Amino acid sequence: MNGNTKMKRHPVCKSEELTEGSIMKVTVGMEDIMIGRKNGRLFACNNSCPHKGASLSKGHMNGDNIVCYMHGYEYNVFSGKLEDMKSWKKEPTWVEQDEEWRKSGDLFLYPISEENGMVYVSLKEAQP
Ligand code: FES
Repeated sequence: MNGNTKMKRHPVCKSEELTEGSIMKVTVGMEDIMIGRKNGRLFACNNSCPHKGASLSKGHMNGDNIVCYMHGYEYNVFSGKLEDMKSWKKEPTWVEQDEEWRKSGDLFLYPISEENGMVYVSLKEAQP
């Protein structure tokens, strides 16, 4: 572990663009990040689904969970935890997938903040 890793705040959008209940994809450097606002709280996570990499910002919210449009896995956007993977089989015609295929990690969360009408996401600064 590098104890010198610094976090850098990046402006990603205006506060007014991130309305209550909305989600959007922003790009910071090489990272695609999904940000949103739910019950007044902001969240930011990697836009790539931890299951098979689908774009999470194409999904929809179910309470505090983002539901991936690809296989319906649900991740809590505040804790990052995978909360529901029951709905992976979207249609009865889908062939059964093995356990290895169904596995998924949790979301990667980023610090997000708001100041003077702007929304900021913090990322580790690349070390030379
Ligand atoms: S890629 Fe997101 S649930 Fe499978």
